[in-house]
Amino acid sequence: MLSLKETGPEKRVHLPPGTFGIPALRYLPFLSRDTIGFFRMLHEKYGKTVRFGIRQIAIHLITQPEDIRRVLQENNQNYHKGVFYRELGRILGRGLLNSEGEFWKKQRKLIQPSFHRQRISEFVEVMAEETNRMIDDWKSRPLLDVSKEMMHLTFAIVGRTLFKAEVTSYSDRIEAALTIALELTTKRIKKLFPAPIHWPTPGNVRLKKAIREMHSIVEELIKERKSKPSNDIISMLLDARDEETGERMSEIQVRDEAITLLLAGHETTANALSWAFYLLSQHPEAYEKVRAESIRVLGDRTPSLEDIQNLIYTRRVVDETLRLYPPAWVIERRAMDWDRLGGYDVPPNTNISICIFNLHRNPEFWENPDSFDPDRFEEEKSKQRPKNAYMPFGGGPRVCIGNVFALTEAVLVLALIAKSFRFRLNTKKPVVMEPLVTLRPKYGIHLDLVST
Ligand code: HEM
Repeated sequence: MLSLKETGPEKRVHLPPGTFGIPALRYLPFLSRDTIGFFRMLHEKYGKTVRFGIRQIAIHLITQPEDIRRVLQENNQNYHKGVFYRELGRILGRGLLNSEGEFWKKQRKLIQPSFHRQRISEFVEVMAEETNRMIDDWKSRPLLDVSKEMMHLTFAIVGRTLFKAEVTSYSDRIEAALTIALELTTKRIKKLFPAPIHWPTPGNVRLKKAIREMHSIVEELIKERKSKPSNDIISMLLDARDEETGERMSEIQVRDEAITLLLAGHETTANALSWAFYLLSQHPEAYEKVRAESIRVLGDRTPSLEDIQNLIYTRRVVDETLRLYPPAWVIERRAMDWDRLGGYDVPPNTNISICIFNLHRNPEFWENPDSFDPDRFEEEKSKQRPKNAYMPFGGGPRVCIGNVFALTEAVLVLALIAKSFRFRLNTKKPVVMEPLVTLRPKYGIHLDLVST
């Protein structure tokens, strides 16, 4: 029940079913052990819209496409980024993922041109070069953890395309710092009542150290660009002036935008590719189709954006991977004002969770939802699904700015690797999902490679 203070005396509040207060406490171990399973259990027990929480922290879990559309599109001004992003904000500052309102709009307008089709088409050559460099290296390595390899590769690609920098020399440091920062941030999110960040707990100390490390790496990159401008995103951000005031962006803001793009631009795509290799290891017939298509469409020449658009089956494999293992597995918001979702009231300050993982496996929209079937993305079949039943890149005005970049990269990397190798999953390490801020394979994906 809401208090009068919360609702106003005249309002009768109709809240979704669920578990709240003391009874919800018993679920905390389940929540932290298996967040996705926990969300699924709540829906099975209470229905399509569920309320969960303790004291002031109320979370509404929504699953219906029309509610998702309302939150992300129709009434998006009412829904700001919530707790999840506040925690993430320690890593990303006030970069594009985290900012709000007019400030976000201005930054998005500024950064958007770096993702125009023309730019992506220029990036394809670098994407192919970096992938081929990795393929050469793989020829002497019959066993590898493909998820680590993909992190290195996508980091190098985002570094060279958006930042015109050979950032691979930094990548081990930034990756280590990022992994620690994401793990500790997720632990804080899951705790519901984390220790205040200024308390010197071991976790807080490690988190702050990892963030300092990331800041210093990106500050090095900014320093390089200040002394030697180029046509990259950092130089563009350093040069940009506010249309009204004529002021330049602060260096801290440039750093936050750069960290956001570096991190959002490599971690998600690397996870998508890792899961694609896992799925293809379980479906060799699909891998053979990817291979045959790649040999036919790409031949031995340097690929162009047009070639990538002709890799139709490979694209379906990527789409199906993003359905089964969406790297951004949950989208989260906080209501600013009253609203209604799923026929229930949403009081201000309610957190909204859209579990993309469960949405993508909802049997209402997907036949045999847990099975791998790239052909469900044939054009005709896709048209028959509600629009918001599939949203690996989110939706509305805050839709992923890098979606075309990511899809182009993922299709190209898969196709180039398929031309050069066959592989088997090495089963010494289990394949386990780890839903941190992104959906990672907890112990990596280990492959035995065979050159072809
Ligand atoms: C498979 C790869 C990717 C996936 C699944 C993905 C997913 C997402 C999702 C779901 C959102 C919306 C989050 C929300 O509404 O709260 C988002 C936003 C964003 N993504 Fe991606 N992303 C991917 C690749 C990329 C790449 C390659 C870049 C940049 C190079 C990028 C940069 C961003 C940024 C900056 C935002 C914030 C946009 C804004 O709020 O205006 N992402 N992404």
